Amino acid sequence: MQLNDKIALVTGGGRGIGQGIALALAKAGADIVVADLDLAIARETAADVEALGRRCLALQVDISDAASVRRLIEEAEAGLGPLDIAVNNAGIIGIHSLDALTVEEWDRVMNVNARGTFLCTQAEVAVMRSRRVGRIINVASMAGKVGFPDLSHYCASKFAVIGFTNAVAKEVAAEGINVNALCPGIVDTGMWRGESGLSARWSQEGESEPAAWERLQKSLLPQGVAQTPEDMGQLVVYLAQAEHVTGQAIAVDGGFTL
Ligand code: NAI
Repeated sequence: MQLNDKIALVTGGGRGIGQGIALALAKAGADIVVADLDLAIARETAADVEALGRRCLALQVDISDAASVRRLIEEAEAGLGPLDIAVNNAGIIGIHSLDALTVEEWDRVMNVNARGTFLCTQAEVAVMRSRRVGRIINVASMAGKVGFPDLSHYCASKFAVIGFTNAVAKEVAAEGINVNALCPGIVDTGMWRGESGLSARWSQEGESEPAAWERLQKSLLPQGVAQTPEDMGQLVVYLAQAEHVTGQAIAVDGGFTL
């Protein structure tokens, strides 16, 4: 158990990639704070963590709101103890061509993905700094390294996450806090699947969503298959322990950004 008795916070931990990361950290021995906008799904993940024999706290947060983030960090530390690891994973997507992109939609995505990552990282560094130890992992995307059509505001928000991560890593490097970004490729979650996901949007004429999902994995990824939330969890468990890795944006994308 490499992370025995470490305390880890995962935002957006109620489902998808965040859930996979929370469970991987728990399997490695950490106790977990699962934070999500949707408290009901955070509680479901918390029950799964407890079933693995670890302590877990489910908390509600809106990461785009500074007061909500401050409250989260206070309640997390009061409930489980000093945070060693923070995974800023919560994020949203919108699919719009440039001419259809409104200011409201731009702000909605930037406020969660970019501002939310800033607010969480700032609050986490503030508590980790005095203890001179901490591991922060910001979930960016392959869309933080390469542009995609119909995703200009999402890409802008994820490029921002990577630039922010790199700058903060330098700022706190001498204080025992490592800050890295994880860049997932294609992961089978609500972002890609279902009627409002990317595979439906990028389906060809007469092509079903499941068929588009299969085609996109094969055509976009050199390895030809999507990644899983567990793959993301493996890298997070590594980064939570690594002493000398900081300021990096590490892709787990089946070779997309080769
Ligand atoms: P998801 O939509 O399945 O889960 C996102 C979670 O974040 C949900 O539980 C949701 O309730 C929560 N959330 C949304 N807004 C929030 C807010 N304001 N405050 C707190 N929680 C909030 O998404 P998925 O796919 O698991 O994505 C997780 C992260 O990974 C996101 O940052 C996303 O941009 C990134 N990502 C996902 C990829 C994929 O293929 N699914 C690829 C690359 C990056």
